Parts: sequence; C-alpha cells; structure tokens
Amino acid sequence: MAEIRLEGLHKRFGRVVAVRDVSLEIREGEFVVLLGPSGCGKTTVLRLVAGLETPDRGRVWIGGRDVTRLPPGRRDLGMVFQSYALFPHMRVFDNVAFGLRMRGVGVAEQRRRVEEVAELLQIADLLDRYPAQLSGGQRQRVAVARALVVRPQVLLMDEPLSNLDALLRLHMRAELKRLHREVGSTTVYVTHDQVEAMSLGDRVAVLREGQVVQFDTPTQIYDHPSDRFVGSFLGNPPMNFFQATVDPEDGSLRVEGVKFPAPVAYAQALAERRGGPILVGIRPEHVSVGTGPLRGEVLVAEPLGAQKLLTVRTAQHLVKVAVGPDHAARPGEHVALDLPEAHLRLMDAQTERALPRR
Ligand SMILES: Nc1ncnc2c1ncn2[C@@H]1O[C@H](COP(=O)(O)OP(=O)(O)OP(=O)(O)O)[C@@H](O)[C@H]1O
Ligand SMILES: [Mg+2]
Repeated sequence: MAEIRLEGLHKRFGRVVAVRDVSLEIREGEFVVLLGPSGCGKTTVLRLVAGLETPDRGRVWIGGRDVTRLPPGRRDLGMVFQSYALFPHMRVFDNVAFGLRMRGVGVAEQRRRVEEVAELLQIADLLDRYPAQLSGGQRQRVAVARALVVRPQVLLMDEPLSNLDALLRLHMRAELKRLHREVGSTTVYVTHDQVEAMSLGDRVAVLREGQVVQFDTPTQIYDHPSDRFVGSFLGNPPMNFFQATVDPEDGSLRVEGVKFPAPVAYAQALAERRGGPILVGIRPEHVSVGTGPLRGEVLVAEPLGAQKLLTVRTAQHLVKVAVGPDHAARPGEHVALDLPEAHLRLMDAQTERALPRR
C-alpha cells in the first residue's frame, strides 16, 4: 500500500480555475473522502491523482515516488469514474477480469477472484451478460468490481454509488467499508453526499471552489466546522447561525437582545471583539426547547421517524430544532429556546471563519 501526497496542485481549464493550491497528505491504507458541492473540483483532483490530467503547478507523490509526469498505467491505481466506461463487447466476467489478465494472473485465480468480488457486489448472476443488457446501477457495480478485483495500492472512486437506489446504496456503503478494511488500498473517494462522506471517511477533505477548506475526521468536521460553509454543508438540516454581538462591558453574547454567557473556550477571542458583531452557530440537535431566554413560534413540525424537526421563528431568525419523535410541539405554539454554551460555535462575522478555541 502507499501514501499519497498532493503538493500545491493547481489546475485551470481556460478561465475556470478548477483546483487551487490543493495540498493533502493521505496516509498509507487510509480512506479519504473528497466532499463538496457540484463543480468544486472533486473530479479534477481525482483525475490529477490518476494522471488523467496534468497539473499546471504542484506535484503528486504516491508511495514516496514523484508520479506527476507518469502516465496512469504506471501509477498502480484502480479507478471507478463518474462516467464508468465498460468494454461493451465483453461480457461482465471479462470486464471484471480484465485487470487481472493484464497483470498475468492465472485463469483459475482470475475466476476465483472475479467470483468473490461479484458475490460481494451482488452481480454474480450477471457475469454472462453484456454491459448493454444491464441497468445503470448494475453497470456501476461492475465498474466497482473491476477496480476492486486487482487490489491496487491506490483506489480512486468518483461517486461510485450514485446510480443505486437508496437501499442498495446503504448496503454497498457498508460493504465498501468492510472491503476497505480487508483489502487496505489507500482510497480516495469522491462524493457530494455528506452522509456517505461521514460514514466512509477516516478523514474528509471538504472542497469549495477548488480549495480544501477543512481536512479532518468526520467527527471533528461535524463538531468544529472551520467556517460557515462547512457548518452548512454538513448536517441535515445544517447548522443554525445567529447574527449576534459581543457585549462591550462583559464580553457576553447578545443574540436578539438576549444575553448569553460567554463560552469559556472562546474567552480570549471574545475579549478582542467586545462591542463588535459575531456569528453564532449551533447544531439543530443542540438547541433545547422548553426553558430558555429566546422566544419563538413553531412554524412547522416534521416527524422524520427517529426524530422530529421543528422550524421555529424567533424575532430575527428561523431556527431548526431537532427533538425526540414524541415531542408534543405543534405549529402555532410558542416555545422558549436555549442555546447551551458548550455547543456554541463562534465565527467571525465578516470572514465567517471559526474563531480560535482555547
Ligand atoms: N475538461 C474541462 N474543461 C473545462 N472545464 C472543466 C473541465 N473539467 C472540469 N471543468 C470545470 O472545472 C470545475 C471543476 O469541475 P469538476 O468536474 O472537478 O467538479 P466536481 O466537484 O467533480 O463536480 P460534480 O460534483 O458536479 O461532479 C467546474 O467548473 C467544471 O466546469
Ligand atoms: Mg465530479
């Protein structure tokens, strides 16, 4: 297996800068997810790692080798791409076995490994068909099988589950995770699905407009987003944000004129901002309903199975609050909200970047 190091990668297409100054160190055997909205440069980063694009600036290292100028065939990669191309004139079996054949693996071993991976991806009964005789989701699974079967040092996957229905997607997600533990290929996985990213990634790199805005464990990214964009992109519903001010006298927070004690972890950062504006973030599951100094009216109550989601209108904000499924709140009801200090995430009002915590 091999570690991957991306050093100051830059790639422009005409006037569009697709990737700006991306540097990432991916450990040997690690599963890293590139997450971000459509057009943020995820596929381009992956293609740079694969050698399907050449960077304008920067370097790609795989297993301690500078591969920036090496063609894809010499990088020991397995790839599953967004537009997965299967060989149309070959049966599924031969499509999957292709990489093994290229590597000179014996016929019996080929059969054994193809059958194993086919079982895993639930395509065992499709091995005799041609790609044209498959559904989109089945073709996608064949493409995944073809990349996995060779057990490459580095596995690159671009939205490999996008064509599957919700249930199969959930199943395959768990299978991929298990498989990764078994095979151990250093994996870079692209998705715009935050749940998939959180579930699969040892670490997640969040991209925005060609730049990595945060690279950390899923828990850390969810609990301590580096800016408002990350807080909004991860989490369903996203983090709530309040426009607030820092009390000029004692450094406490004022949200809609209501005073909240200054979170201890931010004491230093707040001391420097007395009298100024500040952005206060809090996850929907951390807003408490019942007692508290903020007043609001429940606009919508959505039962979502495991939880109930309330939309509460306060004087100046619409607040999403996640409560237990049996919570009694009804539309039209007035409720009191509290914003527990330990769960507040403070950001600069202008740059919207997280303030340092002690
Ligand atoms: N070959 C190309 N020629 C011109 N522009 C390109 C090319 N490839 C990508 N781009 C542009 O570069 C930017 C990044 O594209 P990229 O495909 O990497 O995004 P992405 O994050 O994978 O998006 P999606 O989630 O929609 O697949 C986009 O603005 C895209 O239009
Ligand atoms: Mg893409």
